[in-house]
Amino acid sequence: MEFMLKQHTVICKELIDKLSKYNIISYDEYLCLINNRDLCSEYLFKKARNVRNKIYGNKIYIRGLIEFTNYCKNDCLYCGIRRSNKNVDRYRLSKQEILDCCNLGYGLGFRTFVMQGGEDLYYTDEILCDIVKEIKEKYPDCAITLSVGERSYESYKKLKEAGADRYLLRHETANKNHYEKLHPKEMSFNNRMRCLNNLKDLGYQVGAGFMVGSPYQTEEDLANELIFLNQFKPHMIGIGPFISHKDTPFKNEKSGTLELTLFMIGLVRLTLPNSLLPATTALGTIDSIGREKGINSGANVIMPNLSPFDVRKKYMLYDNKICTGEESAYCVECIKKRIKTTGCEIVTDRGDYKEF
Ligand code: SAM
Ligand code: FES
Repeated sequence: MEFMLKQHTVICKELIDKLSKYNIISYDEYLCLINNRDLCSEYLFKKARNVRNKIYGNKIYIRGLIEFTNYCKNDCLYCGIRRSNKNVDRYRLSKQEILDCCNLGYGLGFRTFVMQGGEDLYYTDEILCDIVKEIKEKYPDCAITLSVGERSYESYKKLKEAGADRYLLRHETANKNHYEKLHPKEMSFNNRMRCLNNLKDLGYQVGAGFMVGSPYQTEEDLANELIFLNQFKPHMIGIGPFISHKDTPFKNEKSGTLELTLFMIGLVRLTLPNSLLPATTALGTIDSIGREKGINSGANVIMPNLSPFDVRKKYMLYDNKICTGEESAYCVECIKKRIKTTGCEIVTDRGDYKEF
């Protein structure tokens, strides 16, 4: 038995070495690693940190997250701000309120602002472009990231021309059947993929991503994620555990685990060495030092919340979300201290994707 375990460990380490060397292994090999993760996770994390440090040094990029609307026309089964949740106290930030967040963020050292929200039809191209333009005018040395869901090619084009640099749109799962189990009928996997391709064609730095441990997800799906990511090659990949929300159809579903999420971060770092990988708020929610562990598994981005204090509790994507009772300045200080414990340091920098 012990001999078998040793043999398995050796095989896993060899696979990790192979992945580190070629940045790709086969679907079966990814699956083997995922299934035997308890034998080789520390080895993977060490390799992932080394790869990250070679490309980005020990620098961790901070992005100021502005959750500017919790209205959403969609009804994703996992999401706390889905349109069917009547318990949500809905809000929208005005242009001035968004600019105030940027002003505060700039003073705190942020050089990227991430405008995230539900799919809110109030924010037409005209309104959104006007906000993006004004942020760019006031803070020309900052990058603007949008994360406002699925829109038309034309809309993405206008927003890019207005000054948006990056776009986050998690694909949520690379398996069409699985996608359909997480979303209502009117949402389509093909449209999600079309949007991601359009964003890339338009020259955005694109962020895809998925939840770990979402209902119906299998280890095979996770192996498939890595194959998909290797083909699509996003610049950023948001990976966080699924966490149930009490007012959604998935309220009784188990949350994703810390260990599997960290393992996926490590595998993604070796598959796409140059990627920008956030240690997500969801990771910090399932474990009090989850974000630090994310950094130690190969992540290099952190996205503290810059949203006004009074709306934070209203952007509850899942239960017990952290940082909803803290002011922005407090979070930044807290994050700085946390990052220090990992041996890394936060930098005041746009933190663009580094090409080979
Ligand atoms: N509306 C935009 C979109 O769909 O891309 C951005 C906002 S959306 C709420 C941001 C991300 O939150 C989603 O892509 C999803 O992966 C994540 N999310 C939503 N509900 C979650 C949950 N219950 N647990 C963990 N992550 C969740
Ligand atoms: Fe918000 Fe620590 S980052 S309280």
